[in-house]
Amino acid sequence: GMGSDMYRQQILDHYKNPRNYGELEEKTYSHAGENPMCGDEITIDVQLDEDDEVIERVAFRGDGCAISQASASMLSKELKGMPVAEMRELDRDDVIDMLGVDISPMRVKCAVLAEKVVQDGAEIYEGEKDLDKTTTEDDD
Ligand code: FES
Ligand code: FES
Repeated sequence: GMGSDMYRQQILDHYKNPRNYGELEEKTYSHAGENPMCGDEITIDVQLDEDDEVIERVAFRGDGCAISQASASMLSKELKGMPVAEMRELDRDDVIDMLGVDISPMRVKCAVLAEKVVQDGAEIYEGEKDLDKTTTEDDD
């Protein structure tokens, strides 16, 4: 129908003109991940505020199909200004809602690649911070 045509055009537009494509000079963390089905890879840089609570800036780069690149571009827009706690709650249904089209089971890994990369990066970053704290406490 009309609605899904609009979404399809939006996906094509984000694929052809990806938003926030590139690299951040200053970043809190950077993480890369691949879609194991095809080997396509996306790297995402995230800059958090000084309290590590809000996403201030996002940039991504990589290669992949239209769905994966459009998903990364659209997600990068959504993430700007989003509390980290909210980002950690995002799941595949949120990503598919954001894309606004039916995603065949074959393409779900394409659609959620960027979301998985940003979440995995956050998890690793938080783990490293906990490790730092533990190390500091052990030093005392
Ligand atoms: Fe991915 Fe450090 S290498 S968060
Ligand atoms: Fe590789 Fe979609 S085919 S990410």
